[in-house]
Amino acid sequence: MIIAIDGPSGAGKSTLGKMLAKELGLLYLDTGAMYRAVGLAVFESGKDFYDAETVARIARQSKIELIGEPDSLQVKLDGRDVSNEIRTNEVGQMASIVSAVPEVRVILVEHQRSLGRNSELGAVLDGRDIGTIVFPNADIKFFLTANPEARARRRYEEDKLRGRVTTYEETLAEINVRDERDVSRADSPLAIAEDAIVIDTSELNLTEVYETMLAIVREVPGETA
Ligand code: DC
Repeated sequence: MIIAIDGPSGAGKSTLGKMLAKELGLLYLDTGAMYRAVGLAVFESGKDFYDAETVARIARQSKIELIGEPDSLQVKLDGRDVSNEIRTNEVGQMASIVSAVPEVRVILVEHQRSLGRNSELGAVLDGRDIGTIVFPNADIKFFLTANPEARARRRYEEDKLRGRVTTYEETLAEINVRDERDVSRADSPLAIAEDAIVIDTSELNLTEVYETMLAIVREVPGETA
């Protein structure tokens, strides 16, 4: 079974994706983490983020691995654990820039498809283009969304817990910049698949969203988990 979860940043995709994967015994793939790892690799190389050819070469040469259970997923870049490093808003912006390079997308989409297909019971993938491009035949497609203020509030609370010095206003501005870039890029922009189930999480708590999603999954024929 393949479950696609798409949506803008801060809508709750990764938390809910992990919860569903754990409950259903599926592989969890955080595709944003892969774009973040490429962003970090470009940053560390000191090269220009807007030099598409160089960025694509770095993506091709980087070994990106997602290892472990949903709760303790480790992201490795060329064998080095970068799980924490990639979580900053700065790396989020870098990921958003490199993700607009078509060749980077080809490389990572192929990687995501092969990981998803090779997983025995299936996978939950979260990202921006899972239901539209990576797995257009996914068994279930969710599109999680929330208004920018609600998403910024959540991100701000997460950042505070991680010890990042920031303000709500800064977080909201960053979310708006990233959203704009992600919906307006030419290649695979953030879009709602025709057959996606859209859930607006602005006014819902985590448990409410989780239970709604799980109930939908359990209605899929053949799903016994
Ligand atoms: O989900 P995230 O915030 O970790 O994603 C980081 C960036 O990567 C996001 O701004 C857009 C990009 N991305 C993408 O283009 N396609 C995906 N499937 C996942 C993420």
